[in-house]
Amino acid sequence: MSDSRPEGAVESLLHEDRTFAPSAEFAAQANAQPSIYAEANADPVAWWTEQANTLTWDTPFTKSLTWDLPFATWFEDGTLNASVNCLDRHVDAGRGDKVAFHWIGEPEDDTRTITYSDLLAMVSQAANALEALGVEAGDRIAIYMPMIPEAVAAMLACARVGAPHSVIFGGFSADAIADRVNDADCSIVITADGGYRRGAAAGLKQQVDDALKSCPQVRNVLVVRRTGQEVNWQEGRDLWWHEYVETQPANHAAKSFPAEHPLYIMYTSGTTASPKGIFHSTGGYLTHVSTTHRYIFDVKPETDICWTAADIGWVTGHSYIVYGPLTNGVTQIMYEGTPDAGGRDRWWRIIEEYKATILYTAPTTIRTFMKWGDEHPASHDLSSLRLLGSVGEPINPEAWIWYRSTIGGDRCPIVDTWWQTETGGIMMTPLPGITAPKPGAAMTPFPGISIDVVDNEGISVAKGEGGFLVVNAPWPGMLRGIWGDPERYHETYWSRFEGRYFAGDGAKRDDDGDIWVLGRVDDVMNVSGHRLSTAEVEHAIVGHDDVAEAAVVGASDDTTGQAVVAFVTLKSGKEVDANSEAEAAVIASIRNHVAVSISPIAKPRQIILTPDLPKTRSGKIMRRLLRDVAEHRALGDVTTLTDPTVVAMIDALMAAHASDDD
Ligand code: PRX
Repeated sequence: MSDSRPEGAVESLLHEDRTFAPSAEFAAQANAQPSIYAEANADPVAWWTEQANTLTWDTPFTKSLTWDLPFATWFEDGTLNASVNCLDRHVDAGRGDKVAFHWIGEPEDDTRTITYSDLLAMVSQAANALEALGVEAGDRIAIYMPMIPEAVAAMLACARVGAPHSVIFGGFSADAIADRVNDADCSIVITADGGYRRGAAAGLKQQVDDALKSCPQVRNVLVVRRTGQEVNWQEGRDLWWHEYVETQPANHAAKSFPAEHPLYIMYTSGTTASPKGIFHSTGGYLTHVSTTHRYIFDVKPETDICWTAADIGWVTGHSYIVYGPLTNGVTQIMYEGTPDAGGRDRWWRIIEEYKATILYTAPTTIRTFMKWGDEHPASHDLSSLRLLGSVGEPINPEAWIWYRSTIGGDRCPIVDTWWQTETGGIMMTPLPGITAPKPGAAMTPFPGISIDVVDNEGISVAKGEGGFLVVNAPWPGMLRGIWGDPERYHETYWSRFEGRYFAGDGAKRDDDGDIWVLGRVDDVMNVSGHRLSTAEVEHAIVGHDDVAEAAVVGASDDTTGQAVVAFVTLKSGKEVDANSEAEAAVIASIRNHVAVSISPIAKPRQIILTPDLPKTRSGKIMRRLLRDVAEHRALGDVTTLTDPTVVAMIDALMAAHASDDD
């Protein structure tokens, strides 16, 4: 392991031994009954095969798993269409009038109700439009959109014509868009003029225009009119959605694709400066997300109103807004804006009005609501809720208990779900009618998934011990590779513990054998549930004209889980005096540079200017020591440093700036 392993992380487990068993009523009606574990784990491949058969296949498969390390195929000789599984089969079964989405825009009273038939018509028009633009199966399409129904329609239209989509989170900057569009060689971009963020119309098309200056292969840009703001227009390339898509025929005969046909690419941060294009299959992925959605969220399609409060620009939105819930035919809430747009009780108003039954969100949001105060949820009737979920980072027991009592009225089971962009769907979680979870623990592997916690040599750790989280066997929703880089795929995930998938997370098995995920053990930070690599942020910082060198670490943060802290050395001649206006200006300009190069979410919480960085004699930056400094811990071993005094100096600088946090 690198020197960046969180010092003491594995030992830092809280002694939390409260458990919260589901009520007898909940347990009795739950989709997953206790026998599910024995049934699935007796023969996981057979069990997943049974789940796969709940989908609609055009050609039934005869093979289940083929495993040629590190490449797996599932249901390989079957063919299907993902959008048909999400839409047509519900409409064909007479459920076309069922609401797919209660969509709520950020501005008050800006709502839309979209049935399964409506969504199928939108998707069919978009699929016809893509084909009219010459899109063929296998072509890649980038989507950069706000949280509006057309974003879902765009994804499903791509799936319908067999063109893998690459959704780029709407908060990314032009440079980040260009990198992703070029890496996947996308030929079409689907975007909107803008989206609403905190009451203002934020431009999206404008970022795409900037990005496309370096993406000559992009033939067309489809633009949804959302905000009505002014946009630049490139004749011949740019097409309005309402003119080009909404005039297409509203039916489209879907073709069928092999189960292993790539459904989408999603970029995520690894330990290097360039994000990895994780790609997923069609048949195995849909099997995984629909099965996990059905059992973990206990969905009853007739009565539930599900709200996954995530952006479709991240994997949670792909798996638990689009593909899982729609294959299961449920009604969902989709909300465009920030949690405090129109008041800090906006979410609770939405839950009360639409009678949401299932809420799935991230710990960072839960902690923000805690800070805002109980009066906001307390002023609304949340009694429709019957299950709560958490995802994206470890949830601290205090937030878990608050979520359970203040939002869940001490009645709703909580599922703390561990998974990753790479795993496609949930891997570890309590099952709501079976498990008596401990606040903060992801508890046990999902049925049919085999997980272990191992030491450096790959040996299972004993109860009460910590180590590395690994997956022992292939699973249907697993990534099929890194786009264009099979070597990196093998190296990153399957070589650290040969033959087993290494997740990059540390975990502890407690005295009862339950698993607690403790966070990343590599150079990946988790800020508000968003993965960022230290290398990526460093790369952006050293791209600033005044910067010579930078080291970035993730430091614990009460709200965001981790926060970005950067130690920066300026070029000679560019140095500034401590606490001067010039210092404040250069720090502001570096933060802004990171926002422009990557995204505002990557902006360092704190930047410490230092004349030197602590390095080993071989020139490696000692991030472990910087993390100690950033977290105000006692300093670790400094004897291997070229200049041991550097750390003490940085520590002093850090103390002097302790009030910089914003
Ligand atoms: O460190 C783990 C953390 O989030 C990482 C995956 O990030 P990403 O691919 O962006 O996907 C986030 C949404 C699935 C993991 O390696 N993580 C995710 N869920 C949990 C978690 N850590 C602890 N508990 C969780 N429930």
